[in-house]
Amino acid sequence: MDQILVRGNGPLNGDIAIAGAKNACLALMPATLLTDQPLTLTNAPRLSDIRTMTQLLQSLGSEVASLQDGQVLALSSHAMSSHRADYDIVRKMRASILVLGPMLARDGHAIVSLPGGCAIGARPVDLHLRALEQMGASLELLDGYVHAKAPSGGLRGAVVDFPLVSVGATENALMAATLARGTTVLNNAAREPEIVDLARCLRAMGAQIDGEGTSSITIQGVDALHGATHPVVTDRIELGTYMLAPVMCGGEVTCLGGRIELLESFCEKLDEAGVSVTESERGLTVSRQNGAVKAVNVRTEPFPGFPTDLQAQIMAMLCLADGVSELEETIFENRFMHAPELARMGARIDVHGGHARVTGVERLKGAPVMATDLRASVSLILAGLAAEGETVVSRVYHLDRGYEKVVRKLRGIGADIERIREPAHE
Ligand code: UD1
Repeated sequence: MDQILVRGNGPLNGDIAIAGAKNACLALMPATLLTDQPLTLTNAPRLSDIRTMTQLLQSLGSEVASLQDGQVLALSSHAMSSHRADYDIVRKMRASILVLGPMLARDGHAIVSLPGGCAIGARPVDLHLRALEQMGASLELLDGYVHAKAPSGGLRGAVVDFPLVSVGATENALMAATLARGTTVLNNAAREPEIVDLARCLRAMGAQIDGEGTSSITIQGVDALHGATHPVVTDRIELGTYMLAPVMCGGEVTCLGGRIELLESFCEKLDEAGVSVTESERGLTVSRQNGAVKAVNVRTEPFPGFPTDLQAQIMAMLCLADGVSELEETIFENRFMHAPELARMGARIDVHGGHARVTGVERLKGAPVMATDLRASVSLILAGLAAEGETVVSRVYHLDRGYEKVVRKLRGIGADIERIREPAHE
């Protein structure tokens, strides 16, 4: 397996281009299943998760062409050859469950494997299933697969009150509702920018949607959707991650395409920690010239709260802060697996259940560490950039799921980082 070697080498300076959002793109791609006309996504990120979704859609009979070095995805689902999403693909990526709502809405039936366990907690899909049931679907669980059928006249509009905020369940229900008969209201819906992006794309395809970005979304079902071209929104998690590089190493970096509105709660925390962020037409510029940042307390919450997907990265930053920080993870259980790895580099972190107390140290020291999940892996790279000596991060396939060209991007701002490829087997 490949590894990444990082040597801490002082301040980082320059521009870094932020890609389209992985999580938005993973929800936008299944929208192709809602229409027999072409859907074109521009500003797509080049990531292994996107390739997995491509494979899944192709296994259902969709055509997916990757153009312009993968930045444009041309999708077409005019002739479906299957309505079964196999375990072999679904187990690789939970977002695969997002094909369920669209297939059910357009063709009235679908069989989708339940996603397996995941390193950051149990992560069930009950909310997705319950919402579809409320829209009239009958569901049966057989051999690890959900067998779903719509009533003879198709799914019908319903009032869905989500008991907790779920990004994926909101996306699945939103897509299904576009073709349901009548009106659907999604209450306690997720408000993430990726939901807003999906609603915009669906609207460009002819859907009637109101209220995206608020916790109540209303969808008036239509008979059919048509093709569209849609640019994927900027990846706010990649943005937040790279904003922390100059904070931890010093220097000044502009994240091209970044906007504060995507990351307000995160920018507020940086401000509290004494970091200056400025917005311009080019993007967000972050600089730290001298001195440690201040300790801050962080609690993860659904949008507009602090994103759980930036918790590992801000923990890496707080390892070097002046004082003691308290972190609370409220979205996922078992999402502090980066803490013991950061401790190998000299960090002082005490974890108790969903709480972590980080006592800032003056310096981190390079060490061999292991990536345990996507965001954990990038937190170790950030720590490595700020540490003395060499850090080798193994299991970097996690990183490839969500960060495109990470080595090239960080080198572009002066980081000493390289990928050590596993020698090909003879
Ligand atoms: C999405 C993001 C992920 C992010 C997460 C929270 C994608 C592809 N992934 O994941 O990067 O960390 O939002 O911002 O967009 N839950 C249930 N039942 C369900 C669904 C969820 O109990 O049916 C629970 C989950 O276990 C979790 C919480 O709800 O505790 C939120 O999960 P959810 O918002 O659904 O996350 P994902 O959509 O899987």
